[in-house]
Amino acid sequence: MNGKQRMIRLTKELLNPIGFAGLVWKNLVCLRWRRYLRSRGVVTRGDVIIKGKPVILRMTGNIYIGNNVTLRSDDRGYHASVYAPTRLMTDTREDALIEIGDDTRINGASIHATEKIIIGRGCLIAANVTIVDSDGHGIYPSERSLSNPVSKPVVIEDNVWIGMNSIILKGVRIGRNSVIGAGSVVTKSIPPDCVAAGNPAMVVKVLDSESEKAIQQATRPAKGFRPIIS
Ligand SMILES: CC(C)(COP(=O)(O)OP(=O)(O)OC[C@H]1O[C@@H](n2cnc3c(N)ncnc32)[C@H](O)[C@@H]1OP(=O)(O)O)[C@@H](O)C(=O)NCCC(=O)NCCS
Repeated sequence: MNGKQRMIRLTKELLNPIGFAGLVWKNLVCLRWRRYLRSRGVVTRGDVIIKGKPVILRMTGNIYIGNNVTLRSDDRGYHASVYAPTRLMTDTREDALIEIGDDTRINGASIHATEKIIIGRGCLIAANVTIVDSDGHGIYPSERSLSNPVSKPVVIEDNVWIGMNSIILKGVRIGRNSVIGAGSVVTKSIPPDCVAAGNPAMVVKVLDSESEKAIQQATRPAKGFRPIIS
């Protein structure tokens, strides 16, 4: 929604008593969530849109959330089932970090940082995604009881879209604008401007600007076309 559309909506809400009451309610709810995030030691930079109560487990370390970030934890009004609330967890390392860039939407994802998980601006993280920068336990029997013996930072660059039920594992960097297909397991870094999918996720398509132009051309309505519902 752009600035003009936002102003029109705000004016309509202010002129209508039910809309006005709704606006007051929304702001009270927003204040309550902001206080909740602050009480958990989360640092926010601007508005955070919270839909349903997230789980915040900040053992130590830091969680930074940018402006206009959405944290969704239930599926009311959403098109897919969200199996669990959005969970942001920083582990026991003092420098453990989760950073979420402006305008990113997180819809019921679990993000557990032992070391560092950075999510850029304008990303879409669909329902039930898991992002971890550690395996949780060592692979050798002697290390099995150790918690998070190995960790490698995860970086999701700007404008990335991660499809439903995907898993992003330690050490992965997903390049700018790329898309991860639903249900993928991403074990290795993915370059920018591509679609990657599967288990393990592989590049299945390159998002070049020529193909984008061709698709826009093909989907543009013909002259004189009027939709039945406008
Ligand atoms: C990733 C996605 C957007 C790509 O769509 P697309 O560009 O139309 O992809 P295509 O259908 O052309 O598929 C390209 C190839 O990748 C494969 N592929 C696509 N998505 C896949 C997936 N999730 N897992 C495994 N393979 C997949 C296709 O089978 C095809 O393989 P082929 O070339 O061997 O035939 C789509 O497949 C997807 O996963 N959609 C769901 C997104 C989602 O989670 N939305 C939630 C709301 S935010």
